[in-house]
Amino acid sequence: MSKTKVIAFANNKGGSGKTTTCSNVACALSMMGKKVLMIDGDMQLNLTISYFDEESALSFAEAEKTVYTAIKQERDLSNFIVETKTKGLDLVPSSSLMSEIEFELFTKWQREFVLKKCLEPVKAKGYYDYILIDAPPTLGGWVMNVLVASDYVIIPVEASPWGLFGLANMFDFCAKVKSISPNLQIMGIAVTKADERKKYFKQTLETLKDMEGVRLFENYIRVDSAVEWSQDNSMPVVAFKKNSRSALEYTNLAKEILSYVDR
Ligand SMILES: Nc1ncnc2c1ncn2[C@@H]1O[C@H](COP(=O)(O)OP(=O)(O)OP(=O)(O)O)[C@@H](O)[C@H]1O
Ligand SMILES: [Mg+2]
Repeated sequence: MSKTKVIAFANNKGGSGKTTTCSNVACALSMMGKKVLMIDGDMQLNLTISYFDEESALSFAEAEKTVYTAIKQERDLSNFIVETKTKGLDLVPSSSLMSEIEFELFTKWQREFVLKKCLEPVKAKGYYDYILIDAPPTLGGWVMNVLVASDYVIIPVEASPWGLFGLANMFDFCAKVKSISPNLQIMGIAVTKADERKKYFKQTLETLKDMEGVRLFENYIRVDSAVEWSQDNSMPVVAFKKNSRSALEYTNLAKEILSYVDR
C-alpha cells in the first residue's frame, strides 16, 4: 500500500471554506516537515491563487501545466506539478477550462477512475506524504473522480443558517462513491467561519453533534480577518500571520488530521 495519503476537501455547498481549509492544512502539514502536494480541482482557481498571483496562474494555464490538461490527456500528474515558495509543498494548478471537465470525462473509459490513474505514478514514487485535493462546490463526475482518488474526505461546513442545507446530499454522494471505491473514509466535518458570539453557531454545532454517524473535528475555525488579508497576499494564513488565531486553529486541525490518519 502506498504511504502517500490522499485527502479531499469537498462539500457541494459553495463558500463553506473548502479551499481556505485545504490550503492552510497543506501549509501547516508542510511546516511540520511533511511533503505535500495540493491539487486545485476547481475552475475558480482559488487554491492556485492562494499561493500564486494571477499572472502566474495564467502562465500555468498557457503552459498547460494544469489538472485539466492532465485529465484530458490522461497523463501522469507528475508532469503538471509546480513548486511553491516552500520546499516540499507543491501544487497542480487549475485552469478556467475546468468548466469543460465534465464534458471531457463523459467519453472516457472508466470515467470515474481517470484522476486515480493519473495519480498512481505520483503515489508510486512515494515522495509525498500527503496529497490534498480541493473540490469544486458540485456533485458530478469530476467530484466523483476526486473522491474515488482519495483515501479520506473532509467536509468543511460553514456555521451559518444555510451551511447545513444540502449536507444530506453530500453524504448520499459519498455513499455512492463508496459503492465503487470502498476504501474512501469520511474523516469528518470541519466547522469553519464560526462566530462564537452568535447563538446560531452553537445551534449549528449542536445539530451536527446530534447527527448520527457524523464525526466532527474538535478544532473548529473561527472567522478571522487575517484569513482575507492572507488571501489578498497569495499566502495561506498559517504562513502569512503565524501568530493569528486562525493560523493556530488551522495548525491544530492539521494535527488532528495527522493523528486520525496515524491511528
Ligand atoms: N476562517 C475564516 N475567516 C474569515 N473568512 C474566511 C474564513 N474561511 C474562509 N473565509 C472566506 O470565506 C469565503 C469562502 O471560503 P472558501 O473559498 O475557502 O470556500 P469554498 O468552500 O472553497 O468556496 P467554493 O465553494 O466557492 O469553492 C472566502 O471569501 C474566504 O476568504
Ligand atoms: Mg473553493
